[in-house]
Amino acid sequence: MSAIRSLDAAEATIRLPALAELLVDAVAHGASVNFLAGLTAAEAGAFWRTQLPGIAEGTRRLLVAEVAGRLVGCVVLTFAPQPNAPHRGEITKMLVHSAQRRRGIGRALLGAAEAAARAAGRTLLLLDTEAGSTGEALYRACGWCWVGAIPGFALRPDGTPAATSVFYKVVG
Ligand SMILES: CC(C)(COP(=O)(O)OP(=O)(O)OC[C@H]1O[C@@H](n2cnc3c(N)ncnc32)[C@H](O)[C@@H]1OP(=O)(O)O)[C@@H](O)C(=O)NCCC(=O)NCCS
Repeated sequence: MSAIRSLDAAEATIRLPALAELLVDAVAHGASVNFLAGLTAAEAGAFWRTQLPGIAEGTRRLLVAEVAGRLVGCVVLTFAPQPNAPHRGEITKMLVHSAQRRRGIGRALLGAAEAAARAAGRTLLLLDTEAGSTGEALYRACGWCWVGAIPGFALRPDGTPAATSVFYKVVG
């Protein structure tokens, strides 16, 4: 059974190595999450450090899933900064460790992120993911609306171009 909770910047800093491990694992297993194959723990840690100021300022939330205290999943919710978008948010880095998938952890994390967005008045959420990926299957299963796909939008970890699907969900 996994527990979902929000990490503040101080705790996220402490859990940085585990967050980095999660990202490295995802890329090593072919997930298209902004990075190419060979991502190192140091590079992944550097990415997570870029998320810390937003978490500290409250413009970003980091939710994690733990099993017996071990970090096995995460998702980032970022509030749109534009003055005309106080109702909008974006979901990124929706990751579940490869050894823990298909146990409902992704669905639970996404549901918690949606609830956190709703509680913050962010009622329109957006995200993108590789077309045909496990992420796409999760978002469809969780009632997200498919907007369309952009051909060749990003490279897979192995360097081949792939289409990206854009989704939204009204959570208010
Ligand atoms: C996408 C991801 C987070 C899903 O996490 P998960 O814990 O395995 O997802 P869940 O077990 O909660 O799955 C919920 C539903 O999503 C769908 N789903 C999830 N993974 C799937 C897969 N590999 N194939 C088909 N359907 C899938 C199913 O409908 C599933 O319900 P079911 O198991 O009852 O059939 C995980 O596969 C992952 O980390 N992938 C790599 C990173 C990534 O691509 N993230 C998205 C990029 S933004």
